[in-house]
Amino acid sequence: MSSFRVPLEESEPGCPGPCNPVDRRAFLFASGATMMSVTLPGLGWAQGQLAKYPRQKVAELGKVKTGEAVEFRYPWDHSNCRMVLVKLGQEGGGGVGPKKDIVAFSSLCPHMGWEIPSKKFYPEVGMAGPCPGHLTTFDLTRHGMVVSGHATQGLPQVVLEVEGENILAVGIFGLLFGFGDNKAKPG
Ligand code: FES
Repeated sequence: MSSFRVPLEESEPGCPGPCNPVDRRAFLFASGATMMSVTLPGLGWAQGQLAKYPRQKVAELGKVKTGEAVEFRYPWDHSNCRMVLVKLGQEGGGGVGPKKDIVAFSSLCPHMGWEIPSKKFYPEVGMAGPCPGHLTTFDLTRHGMVVSGHATQGLPQVVLEVEGENILAVGIFGLLFGFGDNKAKPG
């Protein structure tokens, strides 16, 4: 099976707006906090950089229902940081909760940044899309990987943790659309 490893060198400074495709492909992540290389559970061949950010409560365990989407922004209150949390009803890669079925992703397509509305997240089948831009679909049970379409990267996944009843966002795995890297807080 083929494998790739994310380069570790520094990227260009963060750029609001369309990004250099080399930077985007390179998957460079450097947050102001911690960077680490991780291997995704369920996708042992995929390694990448995890950007950690301040912890932010995004939902409560008891209030998230299977099939319902929760919209939030993370790590910043910026239009490129629109996220969707869903309870799949089946275990998903990176999922939290008793069934490990609660996952969250960016709603901006990594191809050209069209928004995939939360109503196009289908927890019951573990899919998101098709993207209204060019019809890419994503697998929410496998870290947002591309199923079909033009995108060459999966949806950036929000790293979640549970603390008591609270579901917290603590980081991002994947390059947020519109930034050359995940380092610079947008102005
Ligand atoms: S913007 Fe989503 S497939 Fe092109």
